[in-house]
Amino acid sequence: MTQLTRSESVAPPGTDRQPVIEMRDISITFGAVTALDQVSVRLFPGEVHALMGENGAGKSTLIKALTGVYSVDAGTVLVDGEQHEFHSPAASQAAGISTVYQEVNLVPNLTVAENMMLGREPRRFGAINVRAMNRSARRTLLELGLDIDPGSVLEEHPIAVQQLVAIARAVDVQAKVLILDEPTSSLDADEVEKLFTVMRHLRDEGVAIVFVSHFLDQVYEIADRMTILRNGRMVEERMVAETSRLELVRLMIGRELETLDRLDRAPRTEAETGAPVLTAVGLGRKNTLQATDLELFEGEVVGVAGLLGSGRTELARLLFGADHADTGEVAVRSEKRRLRSPRHAIDRKIAFSSENRKSEGVVGDLTVADNMLLALQASRGWLRPLPQATRTRLVQEYMAALDIRPADPTALMRNLSGGNQQKVLLARWLITQPEILILDEPTRGIDIGAKAQIQAKVAELAEKGMAVVFISAELEEVLRLSDRLVVMRDRRKIDERPNDDVSVRDVLEIIAGEARAEGETDA
Ligand SMILES: Nc1ncnc2c1ncn2[C@@H]1O[C@H](COP(=O)(O)OP(=O)(O)OP(=O)(O)O)[C@@H](O)[C@H]1O
Ligand SMILES: [Mg+2]
Repeated sequence: MTQLTRSESVAPPGTDRQPVIEMRDISITFGAVTALDQVSVRLFPGEVHALMGENGAGKSTLIKALTGVYSVDAGTVLVDGEQHEFHSPAASQAAGISTVYQEVNLVPNLTVAENMMLGREPRRFGAINVRAMNRSARRTLLELGLDIDPGSVLEEHPIAVQQLVAIARAVDVQAKVLILDEPTSSLDADEVEKLFTVMRHLRDEGVAIVFVSHFLDQVYEIADRMTILRNGRMVEERMVAETSRLELVRLMIGRELETLDRLDRAPRTEAETGAPVLTAVGLGRKNTLQATDLELFEGEVVGVAGLLGSGRTELARLLFGADHADTGEVAVRSEKRRLRSPRHAIDRKIAFSSENRKSEGVVGDLTVADNMLLALQASRGWLRPLPQATRTRLVQEYMAALDIRPADPTALMRNLSGGNQQKVLLARWLITQPEILILDEPTRGIDIGAKAQIQAKVAELAEKGMAVVFISAELEEVLRLSDRLVVMRDRRKIDERPNDDVSVRDVLEIIAGEARAEGETDA
């Protein structure tokens, strides 16, 4: 066979061009769970290849089978046509496979540059050359449009920035295969575009890129081909351009998706809502959030929109008392006292689901049931264990409501897929039946079917009287769910209005500061 140059176009399925990676009939079981059942995937140089499938379909497991995190029970891996097995992630990296795993696994207390260069630091006379390291890191970060100090400590940055640092680390390596497992889950449109620009550039140089995302728009924009998985089986290999969305969804879930109608909820009027359940006055923190007022009423969903770094998460954390406020106070009902701590907030029936599920949420070594009941048990006090019957009832109820898979309360949390872990965390807070629920990115990494289910659940709880603050990088979702909209920019609230048919475009205009002053004035 003649050697093909890297600039040639992507080989459609069925040609005799040699894949850079070919996985044949890969099977992996974990105890009773068959995570992968004879799955085959081919990756060609110079293509973006999407791995598609519902939460728990086996996407991350397939990636880990390739990179040597998991060993396979059966099947073969060919690299450039030769059988090959990686026995560790380091070995796969050394062979030119650069991976960003679904859970950002960097070292929180090292600097940004140290994280990017870990294991391959530039040295000078044997010592790490910090200046060279920072300079090189800065260059790569700027390519992704990220203007941050490489010498700053990683954990001081929001999750989205940490995600970009992990990506920067991976694209900085000279690789022939780049694997990105849900790299865009907390990014805004602008960051996604910058990432795509870098991906296109690498693809044109002949890198084979694996891309996982639950955002179909992104897949259609960037991917050339895709492999669809369902329940650990390979369903089909497809050209993206030849597959309609409807067809793709059907291939992923194995049936038609129930109608994803808009949530038909009439905007609530002030009269219906009575006295606020929560009032924040002048709530602020130095370098984090300018003094912000916010009222929250019973039975409403307040959506918080704003771009990365606008102060969305910061507002949520201050409302809950997770961070200390320098100014202002938060009163629950008429109680005029500042919330001093999360404990204090929980006692007042406020729940907060943090965006940072790895460090603040998931307890990997506990079972799914224990993870789900953690917040409720904590609020009762550990000396008063929940009766077994109550535990069982609550766990069953929420496993079904959020379609958690596998539906096994005794499974260890760390063995669940990313999306299913996210569902468990959400259940943890719903179970406490709070009066006020603050959700920061609750549907991150959740597949298209389950996302609709979760939105419906949040709407249902609001209908029953819960007040919800809903934060998401996905504007469509915020608009779909909210009765009222708060728009943030540059760490302050710049707009607040009822959500009567506000469009994504409207919000972007508000953020861009181009909203024309309309004839009507605000009431
Ligand atoms: N170490 C493990 N032990 C036991 N079961 C596991 C383990 N890792 C994965 N699984 C199971 O394998 C199946 C596939 O999980 P995987 O993480 O590959 O899904 P995924 O397609 O990446 O989903 P998501 O979109 O939610 O990230 C799931 O049922 C999961 O619970
Ligand atoms: Mg996954």
